[in-house]
Amino acid sequence: KMPSTVTIRGHTCKTDPDWFNIPDNVLDSATRRLHLQKDHPVYITRQIIQSNFPMPTFKYHNDFSPVVTTRQNFDSLGFPADHPGRARSDTYYINEGTLLRTHTSAHQAETFRANESDGYLISADVYRRDAIDRSHYPAFHQMEGARHWDRGEVPGGDVAAAVLRDLEALPKHGVVVEDPNPPWHAERNPVQDKHHSSAEAEAIGAHLKRSLENMVVDVFSRAKAAAMRADPNFVDEPLRMRWVEAYFPFTSPSWELEVYYAGDWLEVLGCGVVKQDLFINAGVPSKLGWAFGIGIDRIAMLLFKIPDIRLFWSRDDRFISQFTGVSDDLDKLKLFAPFSKYPPSPRDVSFWLSSSTSSAAGGNTKNTFHENDIMELVRNIAGDVVEDVRLIDEFTHPKTGRKSMAYRIVYRSLERTLTTEEANKYHEDVREALVKELGVELR
Ligand code: PHE
Repeated sequence: KMPSTVTIRGHTCKTDPDWFNIPDNVLDSATRRLHLQKDHPVYITRQIIQSNFPMPTFKYHNDFSPVVTTRQNFDSLGFPADHPGRARSDTYYINEGTLLRTHTSAHQAETFRANESDGYLISADVYRRDAIDRSHYPAFHQMEGARHWDRGEVPGGDVAAAVLRDLEALPKHGVVVEDPNPPWHAERNPVQDKHHSSAEAEAIGAHLKRSLENMVVDVFSRAKAAAMRADPNFVDEPLRMRWVEAYFPFTSPSWELEVYYAGDWLEVLGCGVVKQDLFINAGVPSKLGWAFGIGIDRIAMLLFKIPDIRLFWSRDDRFISQFTGVSDDLDKLKLFAPFSKYPPSPRDVSFWLSSSTSSAAGGNTKNTFHENDIMELVRNIAGDVVEDVRLIDEFTHPKTGRKSMAYRIVYRSLERTLTTEEANKYHEDVREALVKELGVELR
């Protein structure tokens, strides 16, 4: 039943039965381009982030194809051959060398090579096999940004002074940012001292941090203004941000920016000083600079107080009509007004893994069990009617060594109340598929 070719946004590729793992609902998501749908919260959030990185310094790319090669998505960025992100349990493949991009960084190399401006922003839909809950969906959106300088354009070839001049020209946000760790780590996260003077590395890091802090301050003050328009008595704690060390194969040093939100530190973006090999391999060895990547959907959920990521994909007019006119006047941004939630239908399922599936948890070969396989199986049957899937119990039989697992699946439509019979039918289909497709033994 697998098609011999698939066409995604006009791009036709041969599928390989050993690799192809993209379900129909994910192929449908690839037609939506929510970041280009005017007045959609994902579009509005993109607009707000984008406004902090103005043209012509930054050139905008909003319609790159989601179909990329393993070279673009992984190799060009220095991902090692055994990186877990390459596994079929985590990534949607069309064939061995072709996949749905897992991040907008897949376009870094080609955009550096095109060499059209001093920076860029790439907004796009990205795809990952992942858990099912209210903040995860197999398709979501990212924005990638980069800013670089050219040694050929400054006297003496050291860009530090030019970067510092650009830093001085950036607005000052006045929020205290916690930055408790040293900005780099000699082994884990070294400054690229073969390629950059320490003054350059420091200036690029400072420019990166101020640029991204400004953007986050802007997003969160718009969120606060919207909350105050909804409730004039709304009191907010002052914004808190902090920098933490991070690791990406294509930047060094690397950081994540976290924001204190609802009692927790929340990661909002990843970034770093671009590894010089990327510029060298892209034919622009005299450039150096920084890059970042941010998930748009999560930010949109905070900005609009949207409780469930599935709402973005809903075609329900009660959702989409709430944001009409905001794209043309961002000061009209309003919080999402929840329409009544229909009752949840939780159902549990427990099973023994067959001995051939329980042996390895890596999920790299066809016969190993990986949790993402369950997630997708449920999603294929219940679509957007599934709200949450979580492991509630697991144990290994002391004598037989067999592994038992129990999952709770919450079925809930965003659009109507499910009848008991409907929920039972979904669940019965899930149970059958678990046996047929994953070879488990129901308990
Ligand atoms: N691509 C990274 C991710 O998806 C984010 C990132 C982009 C980090 C650019 C550094 C520079 O997690």
